Amino acid sequence: MFGNQDNFKSAGIFSITWYQSALTALIFCSPTFAQDNPPSFYADALPLFEKNCAACHQPDGPKVGGITAPMSLLDYSQARAWGPMIRNALTTGYMPPWGAHERHRGEFKDERYIDIKEKNLLIAWIDSGMVEGNPEDFKSIASTEGAAQLPSSGWWIGDPDLLVQFERPLKVADDVEDWQPTIQMPIPDGAHTEPKWISKAELNPGGPWVHHIVSSHMGVGVPGRGPFTYPEGWGVLMPEDPFITVNMHYHKTPGEGTSVEDMTSAGFVFYDEGEVIDHVVETNLLPNRGWTIPAGDPNFKVTNTHSIDEDIFLLSMGPHMHYRGKAMRYEVEYPDGEVETLLWVPDYDFNWQFLYEYKEPKFLPAGSVLHLSWWFDNSNNNRFNPDPTADVVYGPATTDEMANARIYFAPTTKRGIVVGDTIPKDVLATARKAEQNRRENTALLTLAEDDLTWLSED
Ligand code: HEC
Repeated sequence: MFGNQDNFKSAGIFSITWYQSALTALIFCSPTFAQDNPPSFYADALPLFEKNCAACHQPDGPKVGGITAPMSLLDYSQARAWGPMIRNALTTGYMPPWGAHERHRGEFKDERYIDIKEKNLLIAWIDSGMVEGNPEDFKSIASTEGAAQLPSSGWWIGDPDLLVQFERPLKVADDVEDWQPTIQMPIPDGAHTEPKWISKAELNPGGPWVHHIVSSHMGVGVPGRGPFTYPEGWGVLMPEDPFITVNMHYHKTPGEGTSVEDMTSAGFVFYDEGEVIDHVVETNLLPNRGWTIPAGDPNFKVTNTHSIDEDIFLLSMGPHMHYRGKAMRYEVEYPDGEVETLLWVPDYDFNWQFLYEYKEPKFLPAGSVLHLSWWFDNSNNNRFNPDPTADVVYGPATTDEMANARIYFAPTTKRGIVVGDTIPKDVLATARKAEQNRRENTALLTLAEDDLTWLSED
């Protein structure tokens, strides 16, 4: 699966000949190779950890939407201590985390694939005793692509124009397993007095107990998901407002001593005056709700279709299921009948809810039909299954299931909205309505002045 043509072509970027011969040795006479000249941390493993893993596994590693990687792989003793786990994570494909099948290589932003030869070299390093080697042998190959560094602002989007957070930490009590409060994050006085066009937005969930966050402005935030960055000329309008309203969903194991304090925050970068918005981003959840997954069923399939009525550019896709989610596919049937797979996630992992963003928005003509398929494993072979003896229906709790196929898109017709000029009425009305709906759909939690608990109801 990984050993495709592309990987061998890309070997060209490594001009160092020992690298090639090391590979040959690995393939043809691995034991001899290991004895004579085993790969070392500094010469062999470190450049690959830096290239493939250090975006997350670095000292004081950055939060990737709320989760922090447990160790730095730039450090010999830590890499060594985690050796067997690393081997396992690599062979199972658990790390680096990414859900889209290899066939999509090159299509989506921030993809995380590791080349087969790099994976094998890391495994060979572990299997041959994790030799340390000489720090002077280290040569970085990570300088260009794939080695994202968290900006000093602490936000992937750079320096936010607007920062909001909860008024004070929200206590997620001991007995909470699933809890979905709606919360308003106050906008600092005078910070947002007129509608602004969002070019980038980032949610920073307070921790892995945040299962997901829905907001009108930032799409869906879940631990493991990076910022929303729209292509140039694409944006979401954020009406002037004293609050940002978010629907939180907390999920954790209930029990004494399990309470946490959550302090979720969000940052925005806006378009500047004079810039032009051609595409106003819209989203659609495309759920299928009418089904029951029988207890124990190892391969239950749900499908849905969605007709595209006007020419659109598809920006991104965000499959969503819960613990029984197994695989997910988006296909498009073009008006001429041709069918193309847009996204194939063969091994869905609830813990990593990726948004697959096209590098170039994908054109889908009017008359196309999306065919969406979800597969579930409700058997006890699924190690994440909370209860294989239960029939499962669509529902909000993480122990229920969902079959969503979120898309972000925009009509291809250019709007030509100049930032700073009057905003077209329909755009403003839609944006205000989205925010209004979010408030009205659920009871709002407010924070009493003299009380550290949040009181329910508005
Ligand atoms: C996008 C960020 C990211 C990248 C890139 C990444 N990791 Fe991780 N890794 C994490 C996070 C977060 C965790 C902890 C949560 C978890 O275990 O799911 C983790 C956990 C692990 C674990 C522990 C797994 C376990 O079973 O507890 C290992 C081992 C690991 N990573 C190895 C690697 C290796 C090797 C690479 C590079 C080839 C890599 N990771 C790339 C974020 C990342």
